[in-house]
This record gives sequence, structure tokens and C-alpha cells, in this order.
Amino acid sequence: MVTVRVPATSANLGSGYDVFGAALGRPADVVHVSEAAETTITMSGVGSEFIPEDPDRNTAGAVAQALDVTAHIEIDKGVRPASGLGSSAASAAATAIGLNELYDLGLNYRDLIPYAAQGEALVSGTAHVDNVAPAILGGFTIATEEVVTQIDASIPVVACLPDIVVSTRDARNVVPDRATIADVIDTVGRAATLTAGMMRNDPVLVGQGMEDHIVTPERAALIDGYPDVRDAALANGATGVTVSGAGPTVIAACHHRHQRGIGGAMVDAFAAHDVDARAYQTTVGPGATVYK
Ligand code: HSE
Repeated sequence: MVTVRVPATSANLGSGYDVFGAALGRPADVVHVSEAAETTITMSGVGSEFIPEDPDRNTAGAVAQALDVTAHIEIDKGVRPASGLGSSAASAAATAIGLNELYDLGLNYRDLIPYAAQGEALVSGTAHVDNVAPAILGGFTIATEEVVTQIDASIPVVACLPDIVVSTRDARNVVPDRATIADVIDTVGRAATLTAGMMRNDPVLVGQGMEDHIVTPERAALIDGYPDVRDAALANGATGVTVSGAGPTVIAACHHRHQRGIGGAMVDAFAAHDVDARAYQTTVGPGATVYK
């Protein structure tokens, strides 16, 4: 048996819609794979009751099929589904890495990205790699049609997950088809600033680069209390705040010393809107860990 832990990830980071992604230290999914003549899947953990165990309808089953192997796959969910924290990507990435180890397939981590993306395709309809790339490679990733660039980064963040559900489909439907050249110029500048911040491990540059006037305002409107949660984080030292992935998690970059205060303030701001929430104080950092 091979066990793989793969953390939550945060896609977009404001200015990098469908391009940027970052591995977070926690929460994480843990996946055990063992040899079997046909693929079976068992689910446990947070939100697992909403995920089908049928291999034809499960992200891990799609990955096994893409790799042309069969296995028993046990998935212990730590990343809540529909959280904006790359839940399906965590399971898909862990399964791809686990099966590669179990059957000695000889693929390297970069080779595994398209296989893990097949799990994403099953769930979301498109084989996005903006979550699976950082889930597998760790750190901060920039995914284009041609290449995935990975940067080892260590930036403290607070990811505040409210007890509400935003469907990825709805969140993609509100993304505008067009942007003004002024907004495109602003976004390019911020995306470049964020990338420089990741390279320098500078939370101030990363925070400035998380601002976005094209996608985030439309998505923020789907999250009860977002403006107050954002203001609370900024008032307590956050260097930048945005929607994580398709939401509803709200993510803040910061210096380490402000993490606790920001987390508490974000949870309180959601509570003022009658929304329960929990804050993960974590760091952009390593991706998958394999235990044999
Ligand atoms: N980049 C994607 C989005 C991530 O924001 O819709 C979620 O799949």
C-alpha cells in the first residue's frame, strides 16, 4: 500500500485567473492505494457523503482509468468539496502520485499533471491544471497552455472557509467575457508583481498582486459578507485579500505575526452575517508527501 498526503490549493490568487495556483500547508486529503484487480473506492472525511464512490463518477476513478491501472483507493477528505480550495484536485493528485508509486509507472511529477487533470475534467468539465499543478509540485505555479512554471515560495496566508456553498459552474458563469484595456493593463501589472513577490517571499508584493478588477468583483458578490470579511482582514494586517478559486473561501496574504488576528477577524466578520466559518492559518509551501 502507498499513502499520499496532498494539501489544499488556492487557484487564481486574484490577478491570475485560470493561471496561478499555490499549494497550502493545510487542510489536506490523504489517499491510500493498494493493488486490486478492479478499481474500488471508499470515501471518508469532511463532505465525503457528497462524493460518489462509483469509480466512473469519482475523480480518483478517472485518474486510475487515465493511467490504465486498477486499484483499491481509500480517500480521507480533509479538504471540503466545493470550498474553493482544490478539493477534487487534492484527491486526483494524490491518486495519480500513489498509483505511480504503487505500480512503479516511472512517471515524474510533471508527467502526472495531465493524468490528475483528468480527475478535474470529470468534476468540472475542463481539465484545469491550476489546482493540480501546485497540488503535485508544491509552491506557486503559473500554468499556461504550453508550460507549467513552478516557484518554491513561502508566504503566510489565512484561508477562511465559510459554511456556504458556491457552485464552480455558477462562479464561472459570472466571469465577464470582456475586459477593458485599462483593467487588462492593471491585471498584467498585478500578476507580474505577485510573481515577483513569490520569488522574493515578499507578502507585501504578493498582497498587492492579489487585487483584481475583472473576475473577483463578480465572484465576491456570490459570497455573503465578502466586503466586510475583506475589510476585516485588511484592518488586521493582511497585505492582500481575494476569493480562493471559485470560492467561497476568502484568502488573505500576510506576515506571520498577523495570521492569528486576521483569522479571528475574518471569522467574526462572517459571523456578523450569520455565516459560520473556520480559518486555516497556513503557508504557501510543499505539495504532495508520499508514505510507503
Ligand atoms: N481557476 C478555476 C476557477 C479554479 O476559478 O474557476 C476552480 O476550478
